[in-house]
Amino acid sequence: MKTSPSPFHIPLNRRRLLHSMLLTTGGIITNSVYAEALTLTPRATEGPYYPDHLPLDQDNDLTMIIGGKAPASGVVTEFGGRLLNADGKPIENGVIELWQADNNGCYIHSRGAQQGNEKDPNFQGFGKIETNAKGEYRFRTIKPGLYTGRTIHWHIRVKQGGKSMLTTQLFIAGVPQNDRDGILRSMGTEQQRLSVIREFKPMSTESKELVGTWDIVIGHTPEDPEQSGRGPGGPPRIRRDADQDIKDALFGPSF
Ligand SMILES: [Fe+2]
Repeated sequence: MKTSPSPFHIPLNRRRLLHSMLLTTGGIITNSVYAEALTLTPRATEGPYYPDHLPLDQDNDLTMIIGGKAPASGVVTEFGGRLLNADGKPIENGVIELWQADNNGCYIHSRGAQQGNEKDPNFQGFGKIETNAKGEYRFRTIKPGLYTGRTIHWHIRVKQGGKSMLTTQLFIAGVPQNDRDGILRSMGTEQQRLSVIREFKPMSTESKELVGTWDIVIGHTPEDPEQSGRGPGGPPRIRRDADQDIKDALFGPSF
């Protein structure tokens, strides 16, 4: 993957807006670093929809596909922050992957369409970014669609040197389904859960686009695939199996 001094791989016509956003949110990011430096981001299951075919366009702007005819539908939402180790030091050249449901609740996975819903052909579905020297990353995407059995969530994976360090999920504060989301409720300690439920606010009074900040704090040990569903210090997560696939086919997915 190409190394860039900037966390942005976004077309030039949007860079000015994003640059001004970084300036205005910089203070918030810095403050949250201090507040959460010792809270390890909890692990969560990757679920069944990590893409089984990656899109050609994998940049950190999921709202537009190269050569696409229109922007993705949904509420444009941006978030960013810093990737830190457990000592609060920024991690450079970490790769952060994002995959999520489109505005109709569908994933780009070959089995990721929800019953009765069409996939949005203009939504990228998966993106990634390499952190810069300050550990910074940023995504431009949409607010994920809601689907049966879950609250609104983004899936995130952090890789370092090709190894998976963390698989987790990010949530939006104030979403009513958060309180009864089984995955969220089983993630780590209460403090760790609070660290993955973030405030998203309109970018400006005239804008419907949302923006939030989120610092990701990872431990030093690469993720064991067998542990990817286990939160640090928390109980083992339910592992997906063939029975779950059958239940999903009958009742809709639960992740
Ligand atoms: Fe999901």
